[in-house]
Amino acid sequence: MLKPMFVLLTLFLFPSTPQQTPVGPVPIPADAATLANPVKPTAESQAHAKKMYGYDCAMCHGVTGDGKGDLVADLKLSLKDLTDPATLKDKSDGELFYIIKNGRGQMPPEGDRGKPEDLWNMVIYVRSLAKK
Ligand code: HEC
Repeated sequence: MLKPMFVLLTLFLFPSTPQQTPVGPVPIPADAATLANPVKPTAESQAHAKKMYGYDCAMCHGVTGDGKGDLVADLKLSLKDLTDPATLKDKSDGELFYIIKNGRGQMPPEGDRGKPEDLWNMVIYVRSLAKK
């Protein structure tokens, strides 16, 4: 009678075995990749995104997005050129939002430093770095 209770209690206290650290690029969850960008850019929101980019992104991706930021040499980063329209062509807004929010590889997560709408505006800003 007591034994099943004990098993349940153990499951409750130790719900899962520790997860293994994934190796290599983690696939972006399908439901995150298909999210549509809910914001419409305004001059103000894009000015804010540009400012955030200057603080949080330019040291790696470069002010223009060319991938030649100050930290690239120190961290031995290999960054794609965001000024090339081909770079983000095949990535959805949802994927970019996910990457910016959660980070990727050597890229740190923006996480809760920006509100979701700020991060969606950042997606639009990052796309605007591509030369027309
Ligand atoms: C410490 C350096 C660093 C910072 C800071 C950083 N990134 Fe990145 N970013 C990277 C690296 C490295 C990758 C490539 C990740 C991978 O695929 O392994 C990347 C990838 C990306 C990508 C996807 C394009 C690609 O190369 O596949 C986007 C978009 C992006 N970053 C935007 C941003 C934005 C916006 C910010 C600021 C909020 C930011 N990054 C801050 C290093 C950085």
